[in-house]
Amino acid sequence: MPAASAPGKIILLGEHAVVFGKPAIALGIDMRLTCAVEKGTENLVNGQPLSERYHSYIHAAIRDHWSGGPLNITIDSKIPSGSGLGSSAALTVAFLGAVAEMRGGIAEEEVARAAFDVESTVQGRASPIDTSVSCHGQGVFIDSARREGLLWHIRRDSRQWYVHHCPVPDLTFVIGFTGMRAPTGPLVAKVKRYFDRTRFARDVVDEIGAVTMEGVKRLRDRDVVALGGLMSRDHNLLAILGVSSPELQRLVDAAMPFSYGAKLTGAGGGGSMIALTDRPEKVAGAIARRGGVPYVVRAGVDGVRAEPMSE
Ligand code: MEV
Repeated sequence: MPAASAPGKIILLGEHAVVFGKPAIALGIDMRLTCAVEKGTENLVNGQPLSERYHSYIHAAIRDHWSGGPLNITIDSKIPSGSGLGSSAALTVAFLGAVAEMRGGIAEEEVARAAFDVESTVQGRASPIDTSVSCHGQGVFIDSARREGLLWHIRRDSRQWYVHHCPVPDLTFVIGFTGMRAPTGPLVAKVKRYFDRTRFARDVVDEIGAVTMEGVKRLRDRDVVALGGLMSRDHNLLAILGVSSPELQRLVDAAMPFSYGAKLTGAGGGGSMIALTDRPEKVAGAIARRGGVPYVVRAGVDGVRAEPMSE
């Protein structure tokens, strides 16, 4: 049975601003989703009939990127859904990886392009950051200009993104999941309304872009003190854009005494925060005491890959 897996992600810097063409950095993490496919008599997902409502990403992927007949699809995910950790991107990428395996092999860039197409169709407005990092793994740096280490270049309406490989130094992150699931589409739409209406929001988006560019250098130098400071600044700017929440703020505040920096990650509104630390047990304990679900993660893992066939 052809199968593929893909990692979840954290966004280190630049979420939301990346939708407007600003730079962002994302890292693949050691939480994976595996998808196996085989030919069947009707489209089934974990034994249930494929539904546009409940399996929107697979539904769009089959409609737009598969013409080989009904599939029996089995999904096994270690990424909590709606957590801001890239579960829908990993699902889309792993599914497209599994059907590519069925056709003879996975081509990373082809899967990345198709996965972004699916995510944009389902989500409404998106950048290629989640799908690109889930495909490539390791780290990904997106910018509006071409730089060293280019992986692929993607255009959508008047926007464009150059997606680059970003080396990941050995760093420890603790994730704090609020337990509140927050779909990305409405949060992206909310920021867009604010951006379109006010000069102030456009300035905040520019400022997030500047913080991210500084972060690229600090990450390369493994300057955790400066990088942590930039993460905290980014969090405050995202809060000004209206995508933090009392629950996220509580977990960020709990992590800070033991961290170089902490911020919401992904779309926000609920979902998760991340802390950069060298005291992961302390941070995990503080997050758990404030009602969050902590995960200590390793960043910079494999992207989409074929998994051994299971019977
Ligand atoms: C979500 O993980 C990241 C956002 O910037 C949306 C996107 O880039 O598509 C909020």
